[in-house]
Amino acid sequence: MTTVVDRWNIHPDHRWLRGERPDAPITFDQAQGVWNVYGYAECQEMLGDAARFSSHTARLLPVAVDPSLMEGDMSQMDPPQHRKFRQLVSRAFTPRLIAGMESRIVEITTELLDRVEGKPELELVADLTFPLPVIVIAELLGVPASDRDMFKKWADNIIASFSGFSFLDDSDQGHQDMSDATEQLRPLLEYLAGHVAERRRHPREDLLTHLATAEIDGDRLTDNEVVNVANIMLVTGHITTTMLLGNTVLCLDADQEQGARVRADRSLVPGAIEEALRLLPPSTAMTRATSVDVEVSGVAIPKDQMLMLWLGAANRDPGVFTDPGAYQPGRDPNPHLGFGRGIHYCIGAALSQMEGRIALNALLDRFPKLRTDPANPPGFFATPDMIGVSSLPLRTS
Ligand code: HEM
Repeated sequence: MTTVVDRWNIHPDHRWLRGERPDAPITFDQAQGVWNVYGYAECQEMLGDAARFSSHTARLLPVAVDPSLMEGDMSQMDPPQHRKFRQLVSRAFTPRLIAGMESRIVEITTELLDRVEGKPELELVADLTFPLPVIVIAELLGVPASDRDMFKKWADNIIASFSGFSFLDDSDQGHQDMSDATEQLRPLLEYLAGHVAERRRHPREDLLTHLATAEIDGDRLTDNEVVNVANIMLVTGHITTTMLLGNTVLCLDADQEQGARVRADRSLVPGAIEEALRLLPPSTAMTRATSVDVEVSGVAIPKDQMLMLWLGAANRDPGVFTDPGAYQPGRDPNPHLGFGRGIHYCIGAALSQMEGRIALNALLDRFPKLRTDPANPPGFFATPDMIGVSSLPLRTS
């Protein structure tokens, strides 16, 4: 049977997406100076051991990242700093706050789909999967959702500029590209800084205010840290959710038998989303840096080496997943690494799962014949560490 990957020729360079296993679970890329990690056990070990495998990878990059952008980026922090910082953010971004968004997510989904009701085709990204997560996170943060076209422009510019070069490029051009990419971030950061300053003066019942006022042992986040947390939530959090929703629809479309099963039995919807996350993880490569000399699965890796953990390859490890290339919404257990593992496990996982469940159910309810159009194929983000649709034209009849 043709898989979703073959059908749309997703990332032709990723051989591990197409049933081929890499030569070894860990290989060294001499040209890039990076260790590629493909095995599930190896990725799990690295994600679970922050003492030996540090998240502070920016220190190894030849091209310096502007330090003001790193303040508040907890994905770059190690314990004990990470523990405290994550606790502070979790005080504001609580399971209760997220659960409280459920009825609002249903409303937003309904409003968005009402706009395309009766049309013979829709473009899923523009019509639903981009605006939904951006409106949700904007409303949670307390910034006007009506600014979403501006967020999209900024997010597109940021992704395009950060994916157009290598962080490992030490040439003059590499440094220039980094500085250009950083400039693309400025308008969004300035916009958020304005809102944070306003919340300090006039607190409201929103996530920005909660982030600005959360306190542990007398410590609070600085304004710049709140700005960077909000930036990560707005840009990284929503683009990944956009991709996950589109990827799930694509998986259900490519496997018509499974698509019909999920349509008929909605208890399979959460599993359909998790399985899409396993097969096509939007954030497919995580970086780590060795803090000491290590040995993993018999491979000796010296201190201060850059590791690239290919979650999409680990999620297809036949030692863990039977028939790993098949899309099986009923797969149970499904211990995929799509949201990471260990202390950096995605803080927004529950929010994206809820959005996915609501959006997918609404699509299945409204459109009994939803399908892709071979004459009008989906577009994909080109950057190798992301797997996901950037546009998804669908026919509704
Ligand atoms: C389908 C959607 C999403 C995917 C696939 C995803 C994926 C991931 C992954 C793989 C990590 C682990 C990073 C690492 O170990 O280095 C992570 C961390 C993180 N995610 Fe998500 N994410 C998603 C949605 C979101 C949303 C909606 C938010 C916020 C609203 C969010 C905020 C974060 C933050 C702040 C971290 C860093 C956590 C830490 O370092 O402790 N993500 N995400």
